[in-house]
Amino acid sequence: PNKRIILGVETSCDDTSLCILEVTDSSSKILSLNSFNQDFLLMKWGGVVPELAARSHVKALPPLLDVTFKEAGISPEDITEVAVTTHPGLVGSLLTGINLAKTFAMMRNLPIVPVNHLFAHLEAIHLTEEVSYPYLGLLVSGGHTAFMWVKGPNEMDVLGNTLDDAAGEAFDKGGKLLGVGYPAGRIIDDLAKTGDRKKFDFPISYMRDRPGKMSFSGLKTALRVKVQSMQPEEVKAELPHLCASYQEAIVQSLRVKADEIIEKILEKKVNGFTTPIVIGGGVACNSRLKEVFKERYKNVHVVKPIYCTDNAGMVANWASRVPDLQVPFPECLSLDARSRY
Ligand code: KG4
Ligand code: ZN
Repeated sequence: PNKRIILGVETSCDDTSLCILEVTDSSSKILSLNSFNQDFLLMKWGGVVPELAARSHVKALPPLLDVTFKEAGISPEDITEVAVTTHPGLVGSLLTGINLAKTFAMMRNLPIVPVNHLFAHLEAIHLTEEVSYPYLGLLVSGGHTAFMWVKGPNEMDVLGNTLDDAAGEAFDKGGKLLGVGYPAGRIIDDLAKTGDRKKFDFPISYMRDRPGKMSFSGLKTALRVKVQSMQPEEVKAELPHLCASYQEAIVQSLRVKADEIIEKILEKKVNGFTTPIVIGGGVACNSRLKEVFKERYKNVHVVKPIYCTDNAGMVANWASRVPDLQVPFPECLSLDARSRY
């Protein structure tokens, strides 16, 4: 009787993703989740080109829609609401998903839930396990790096963030300097497995006078200086060690800031901190990050890898948890995209 069937749409950056989530009073089940990524395009350009990303979404959405419904074994008429990422993100990219959502809404006068991409990343933890509120969220992706105090699905206070590059950006830009390919996070993670993380000394930015504030741009510069001081063959030979040491600096920067937030902002002792910590976003896939955080803190929960990088599962999931935020038809037709958080 109270069954909701949510179509989730994610097009905020370079991944095109659709999901159908079935929600009853007692359960929540993904019927299908399909994504298309533009990594081949990005590989060529070494990063996201907004204009190309938006055009790629437009091309990818129709076939993706087709497989997503086929796989779920339902028809478009069965959808009861649409969830779409509206902010933050690249406006041109966001608009492609928003237009799809509006088309659906118009077909059967459906409501739309405008989804906050960052909140969705952290709340994706509930796709695989229940974590109680409040929790300390660490969102680490290609576009964002932030610590949040999460009191509910739509109640998050920013406790700390980066002043320049995001952690994922540090991986990707570092990977570019090392010539390992794009996106570099996973490649560096793999290469680092056979490397010595103590071999090279990369700086950790403490910014002691600015609790919660992070910076990754100095680290990237340090890697550039190091690489320029080496012969190309030497860089090749030392690649696993360079990756392991560079990755370690990123991970330890996050760990240092987590300690600082727990002690200085939340005023708790690290070893007595039993509040859940939830880690989400693309960089949450990083094996060393998981290892270090699980070793250091008591109650660490990491979003499952398939729900870490941009995906529509997290979008539909977030919408399922905030039924009050549904914008009814026809007001939903005036929903707009926003680049900022
Ligand atoms: O969440 P996401 O898909 O996109 C944004 O919303 O930004 O995150 C993508 C980022 C990329 O920077 C990628 O290099 C990074 O996540 N990433 C990783 C790993 N897998 C993906 N970084 C470190 N280690 C990984 N295993
Ligand atoms: Zn993301």
